[in-house]
Amino acid sequence: MIDLSTKYLGLTLKNPLVHSASPLSEHLDKMKRLEDAGASAIVMYSLFEEQIRLESHQLDHYLSYGVESQPEAHSYLPEADSYRVGPDEYLEKIRRAREALSIPIIASLNGASRGGWVEYARKMQDAGAHALELNIYLIPTDPETLGSDVELMYVDTVRAVRAEVTIPLSVKVSPFFSSMANMARRFKAAGADGLVLFNRFYQPDFDLETLEVVPHLVLSRSAEMRLPLRWVAILYGRVDVDFAITSGVHTAEDVVKGIMAGANATMMTSAVLQDGIERMATVLDGVKRWMEEREYTSVAQMRGSMSQKNCAEPAAFERANYMKMLHSWQSDPTGRLP
Ligand SMILES: Cc1cc2nc3c(=O)[nH]c(=O)nc-3n(C[C@H](O)[C@H](O)[C@H](O)COP(=O)(O)O)c2cc1C
Repeated sequence: MIDLSTKYLGLTLKNPLVHSASPLSEHLDKMKRLEDAGASAIVMYSLFEEQIRLESHQLDHYLSYGVESQPEAHSYLPEADSYRVGPDEYLEKIRRAREALSIPIIASLNGASRGGWVEYARKMQDAGAHALELNIYLIPTDPETLGSDVELMYVDTVRAVRAEVTIPLSVKVSPFFSSMANMARRFKAAGADGLVLFNRFYQPDFDLETLEVVPHLVLSRSAEMRLPLRWVAILYGRVDVDFAITSGVHTAEDVVKGIMAGANATMMTSAVLQDGIERMATVLDGVKRWMEEREYTSVAQMRGSMSQKNCAEPAAFERANYMKMLHSWQSDPTGRLP
């Protein structure tokens, strides 16, 4: 009998496969189907700082980091009707999901500054969320902004949200820090129980016909998982938080790799949006089969076994591996990789 259960943010999950924030959680029937397909928890789509500010007419504080001095900044704020729902409706969705589902519901708050909007963390808790994922997503474009100021903003925001809630708090962050390990430790000190690695940045594209910069959503591929995989492996055993991997988890092997790196949970969105909700069940079956074939009996037994701390070649996660990889490239006479 294989024990797939895992602890994430103090919650006991029946398996490590969580559905990360996506439009599927806008609909209760789809959340129910995700649960039926085996999702062990669902992170709801985000409620955005801008949405809350818009609702409470606090636009004057908008984008308080980085671009507030630019008058055109307000034009970046999407119109109210381009948001999925208002803050009150979001809270109502948490309540309904909590009633209808038996797996944990993780609410998601998305922002990038301190301010009154963080009060919604408490409202999410009051609405019944089992845990909260704080997504901090910021593109600091002002050349005057110091990296240390950006770091401080991240930590301050975590601390402000932590002060609002007693439920477990995870922080979903980008990989773009000079010292990821130090930031991980500072997030923990600011009150994070878990880190979700990593936020996927959606890069705008150019439309050459209209000469406009256009948003362009591209779903992930498995290979993208290497970045969070590496960082979870490095941080496991060094920073005392739970880890979730998001970005590029598509297959059963991806889930197994994530656990072996040290993740408590692996999250999947793109693969589900691409192939449908049943993909969750297929991946879970694959994880069970993989473990059976290799005589693993529990997820706990596998967790962290390939982390930097535990693996046979710790240097493989560092610069040495980079040199080795570049030197392994041997082209054929045409210049191509054979
Ligand atoms: C259509 C779409 C909507 C998303 N909405 C949110 C969101 O509201 N909040 C959030 O934190 N992440 C959101 N994400 C990011 C996903 O939760 C996930 O972190 C990202 O897609 C990487 O995981 P994947 O490779 O499994 O897709 C969204 C992703 C997609 C594709």
